[in-house]
Amino acid sequence: DKGAYPFYMLKEVDEQPAVLRRLLQNYQGDDQQFAFEADMMKTLLASDRVYIVACGTSYNAGWIGRSLFEKLAKIPTEVHLASEFAYDLPLLSEKPFFVFLTQSGETADSRQALVKVNELNYPSLTITNVKGSTLSREASFTLLLHAGPEIAVASTKAYTAQITLMAMLADALRAAKGFEASFDMERELSLVASIMESILAEKAEIKAWIDANLMETRNAFYIGRTLDYYVSMEAALKLKEISYIQTEAFAAGELKHGTIALIEEGTPVIALVSEETVGAHTRGNVEEVKARGANAIVISMQDVAREGDTFVIPKVETALSPLVMVVVTQLLAYYTALGRGLDVDKPRNLAKSVTVE
Ligand code: F6R
Repeated sequence: DKGAYPFYMLKEVDEQPAVLRRLLQNYQGDDQQFAFEADMMKTLLASDRVYIVACGTSYNAGWIGRSLFEKLAKIPTEVHLASEFAYDLPLLSEKPFFVFLTQSGETADSRQALVKVNELNYPSLTITNVKGSTLSREASFTLLLHAGPEIAVASTKAYTAQITLMAMLADALRAAKGFEASFDMERELSLVASIMESILAEKAEIKAWIDANLMETRNAFYIGRTLDYYVSMEAALKLKEISYIQTEAFAAGELKHGTIALIEEGTPVIALVSEETVGAHTRGNVEEVKARGANAIVISMQDVAREGDTFVIPKVETALSPLVMVVVTQLLAYYTALGRGLDVDKPRNLAKSVTVE
């Protein structure tokens, strides 16, 4: 039931802090460690490479997972589109471990890839929101997202739940491998939940800005580097699928290698800047598109914010920045579709669960 909400999407966006806290609780172990099934941890630790396989929003979450597994647990990780993977298997390592990210647990492309993995007898984990779903039954292990039913076609809370779960798993793997923690994962995730709440409290401001800037445009771009680029991929998918504005995400440095030709007077270019080192370069790219007439919009994090940024988000640990940056972009997509009078929960041509290849 969506209660007082006009659309499920907004309700589900609002639920994210609670989902995050529920995940923290559900995977809480003793001694300030996250608890995961011993057999799964053993299998994962014995593997030499993780292959994340998924579609759509879940695939976009996979890129953040890759960064977490590699940076925190030092496990080489690749991300693959399920629809490509099943038909052009990458050269696999000696001891691969497969992670299937799927909100519904029923996506045919992902299932096809899992069938392949099972034929080859490799271990797998399905991270899903639906208990007893096909991919959950057919994988060696399952982890549940506990996000509650996601009704809106545009996935929101499943994305942040997947990233949260992978952050906890990466932290558990790090601890199991005896690496020092660079930050307290539990404390930082709790902080993320609070900051999500503070962003969600700014809806009116975000809506007003969107009404003034995104109502007329036919196309838009998201740019960022590293984690901000991966969030851009998700932000662009969200905006295009519910508002029908053609939106593309680019690694900021790639703009000058071709895409900048598309920038016209007034083209919205939304830059995500959550980190100093790469952020400075992204800001350079913002200047380049501005010089060509773009309507540049910067969403930044407090410690790297500059005068004139459109939205500034309170600081969180860099590795977890996608969890908060994405919330602004979800609201941006929501209010754009709403302002255009569209059916936010049921965009044209799309189904919630894609059960055909
Ligand atoms: C976009 C969206 C889709 C799904 C994709 C995979 O908002 O919802 O891109 O993410 O179809 O679905 P699952 O995660 O159920 O496998």
